[in-house]
Amino acid sequence: MILKGKHIVLGISGGIAAYKSATLLRLLVKGGAEVQVVMTPSGKEFITPVTLSALSGKPVVSEFFTANTGEWHSHVDLGLWADLMVIAPATASTLGKMANGIADNMLITTYLSAKEHVMVAPSMDLDMFASPSTQRNLALLKADGVEIIEPKSGELASHLVGKGRMEEPEEIVRRIEAFFSRCESLGGKKVLVTAGPTYENIDPVRFIGNYSSGKMGFALAGELARRGAEVTLVAGPCSLPTPPGKVSRIDVVSAKDMLSACEAHFDDCDAAILSAAVADYRPEVCAESKIKREKEGDMEMRLVRNPDIASTLGKRKGNRLLVGFALETDNEVENALGKMERKNLDMIVLNSLKDPEAGFNKDTNKITIIRRDGEQMSFPSKSKQEVAGDIVDCMFRQ
Ligand code: C5P
Repeated sequence: MILKGKHIVLGISGGIAAYKSATLLRLLVKGGAEVQVVMTPSGKEFITPVTLSALSGKPVVSEFFTANTGEWHSHVDLGLWADLMVIAPATASTLGKMANGIADNMLITTYLSAKEHVMVAPSMDLDMFASPSTQRNLALLKADGVEIIEPKSGELASHLVGKGRMEEPEEIVRRIEAFFSRCESLGGKKVLVTAGPTYENIDPVRFIGNYSSGKMGFALAGELARRGAEVTLVAGPCSLPTPPGKVSRIDVVSAKDMLSACEAHFDDCDAAILSAAVADYRPEVCAESKIKREKEGDMEMRLVRNPDIASTLGKRKGNRLLVGFALETDNEVENALGKMERKNLDMIVLNSLKDPEAGFNKDTNKITIIRRDGEQMSFPSKSKQEVAGDIVDCMFRQ
């Protein structure tokens, strides 16, 4: 009954597989979902709006205005209403418009206004599917966070045999149900996430910092919130937008500020993921006004040790789950294991600086997860969003 009461926008574009959209719609409605159908003009050539409005119990939307009444259909309201948007079938043209923001019909404007998850089930002839243009558009959509329900191989409407058949409605429903159960899987859990660099001030205009972008930590916060967790995101200086969902963000500058924010929220949490690149040292004194350059000679600055947030939380973690990161250049696994032990972590995520696809300010990461029980899992290079999914899966797996 996971579909009960869920608001789903079903987008239908002009492909022969549109006849299967009626079955998909029927299954969703039977499962208890409220479904609003949005069609492209050519979608209506393949299946009639009358069939779909009868099955959904709602008038189908396909034009910006109803011709005789002048009533305006708000794609913005639809985008806000939807808990999920599924476009099945998604033609090459619709995928191309989505990837490039070409908002010339109601389906694309609704997609651009959708706040929640979007899935597409492509359907087209094998050569169209394999064409570099379609593949480029799918890669762009994937990078934008759209879930692609891969087409199947088999006989196509053209009688050619190859990859391009839309996935069957029953399987699309299974993917939709999996999405909603993922959304609720961490309901009631509270997780603290640290992200980004810390800046240690030298004077009002200078600091010691590092190149951490915060992308990994923000992706983790986003993934946790997508699964229904309440997230406290303690962020060092970075200009990333706060992920949607139940994420309360606390902006900090220095390691000491980050520690205070973490200490204030840790006890209330079930788990913490420490992905921030915390400066190990800070200037002993921060000058009140800008330090002037001497006429000649060098300058010396004494640095003092910063608190280790992971170790501090590790000492009082109780049965909370504590996850750290390790960015290593050599003896990677050995060093990571040592860190896990010293800081009392339950899990450590290792990324090697030797790897060109891992590390600071990249959109991809290549990780090995090491658990307290010694289990090691190495993953191929993936987007930071997918990496976040692997880390969260591993933390909360039964
Ligand atoms: O010892 P190292 O800095 O390599 O450890 C990395 C892990 O420890 C990361 O999870 C990082 O967020 C955390 N850390 C911390 N406080 C510090 C230094 C590192 O929480 N002062």
